[in-house]
Amino acid sequence: MTSELFSAEAIILPQGGPLYLQLKRWIEDAVARGAIKPGDALPSERDLAAKVEVSRVTVRKAVQHLVRDGLLIQRHGSGTFVAPQQSRVEQSLSQLTSFTEDMARRGMAVRAIWLDRGIYDPSPDETVILGLSPGDRVARVARLRLSGDMPLAIERAALSAETLPDPGSVGSSLYSHLDKTGNRPVRAIQRIRAANLEENDARLLEIPVGAAALHIERIAYLPSGKVVELTRSVYRGDTYDFVAELRVGEAARK
Ligand code: GLP
Repeated sequence: MTSELFSAEAIILPQGGPLYLQLKRWIEDAVARGAIKPGDALPSERDLAAKVEVSRVTVRKAVQHLVRDGLLIQRHGSGTFVAPQQSRVEQSLSQLTSFTEDMARRGMAVRAIWLDRGIYDPSPDETVILGLSPGDRVARVARLRLSGDMPLAIERAALSAETLPDPGSVGSSLYSHLDKTGNRPVRAIQRIRAANLEENDARLLEIPVGAAALHIERIAYLPSGKVVELTRSVYRGDTYDFVAELRVGEAARK
């Protein structure tokens, strides 16, 4: 990358709004059009400030935002670089599939790091949603899900201990395990909301604290209508797009 790319004329517009935002947008655009590429080093804060004729504080603020968004990475002692661009995963919202199936369809090999698995006394939430009776216990399986070395999501699933008496026996796929015991869900309600990552989850997903993430709650049902699974997942916001196919409803068609 040639640092000549950076100049006040090219970047700063008099009525263009806050300077750090203008610089941030310019760098985003330069990455999007390939003028600067993943792995390229940005000029130092001092050089960038001089080239773009803005303060170092302005440069620092623009860079901090881009690091938080995952477009830039900072390596201590060696500078700021354009982050490797992970191709975004498009996740359909119409099919009830497992993580393993979703990734297999993309030819992505997945693995999991177990964060927790065991039998516990249920929380009030788990009791209500899973329809547990007094004295019933809950099986929890929590995993960090990766594609290669890249953490993609954290999944915390809860099921009745009756459905999953031995969480330790779950292999690479929870749904394959449930399939074997005749407890694979056939329908689910999924809620998706955006949130900024807290420390623990940010560390697990290897992205900065406060970065955007998608929180997904899935409540899944057996053919009988009984709730079999409550899963709360955190997906990286810089990697995932959830895609829903929308159709005109019957009523609107008449
Ligand atoms: C998806 C769902 C989870 C479900 C998981 C099962 O990721 N969001 O609710 O538990 O799939 O995936 P697997 O069968 O690969 O463990």
